[in-house]
Amino acid sequence: MNKQYRTPVIAGNWKMNHDRPATRAMIEELLPLIAGSECEVVLCVPYTDLETAISLAKGTNLAIGAQNCHWAEKGAFTGEISAAMLKEMGCDYVIVGHSERRQYFGDTNQTVNERLKAAIAVELPVILCVGENLEQREAGQFEQVVALQLTDALEGVTPEQMQLVTVAYEPVWAIGTGKNATPAQAAEACALLRGVLWGLMGPTVAVAVPLLYGGSMNEKNCAELLEQVDVDGGLIGGASLKAASFAQIVATADRMEDTGEETGDMARMASDGAGETGESRGQ
Ligand code: PGA
Repeated sequence: MNKQYRTPVIAGNWKMNHDRPATRAMIEELLPLIAGSECEVVLCVPYTDLETAISLAKGTNLAIGAQNCHWAEKGAFTGEISAAMLKEMGCDYVIVGHSERRQYFGDTNQTVNERLKAAIAVELPVILCVGENLEQREAGQFEQVVALQLTDALEGVTPEQMQLVTVAYEPVWAIGTGKNATPAQAAEACALLRGVLWGLMGPTVAVAVPLLYGGSMNEKNCAELLEQVDVDGGLIGGASLKAASFAQIVATADRMEDTGEETGDMARMASDGAGETGESRGQ
């Protein structure tokens, strides 16, 4: 975690969990626990909970996101929700490219790119998920897979627009399995992604984009994962459903020291070249 360059992001992904009363109860319990946090704290909730969550979070340091959006502005797409609709109702974020969308609902690198551009077009910040499955990891294809997912998802996106993008590395084999990636694996993947971002967008953007780790992160294992210099936060499923667990992860990120300075990470090297390409995110 390099706090000098990037604000930590602790984002929850509720998936298809919690109805409106449960949403109200969880957020009311959470708000006092995270008040004063220096992190960007986000909860991505089911569409049906958005209005409740947005009204409870109004005027607080909690941001609310959706978990997907369609790529078209509007039209004959029964059952879909557009980025513009999310923006209009007061959403702060949308997740695109989650592996469950790729696995069960046919999302491809190309449709993820379309969704991401649709969100950017209405200035809705995006949490873009990438990550290899077990077969790909065992076949030694992890680097190739995540680099391509990131490159394809960002096709046609400008360095300036990257201010709206946060990237989450979520190895599919670690999601919901209780088996998180090791800190070394998370660090390796996030360093790889930052390198890809550098190649695509230049050093200023590569340094500024928060990279999250996701996959069975919880209050017990988060410290060793967040300690990695290129890991700027977490995208948390199961452990985001309970206020106490989620708040503990936020508190751990708040307490964490900036690990960027000692480790002399890529960010520091990039800062020497900063200004060549892209704009600062202003964080
Ligand atoms: P998990 O989910 O924390 O329950 O593994 C993470 C995610 O899918 O975003």
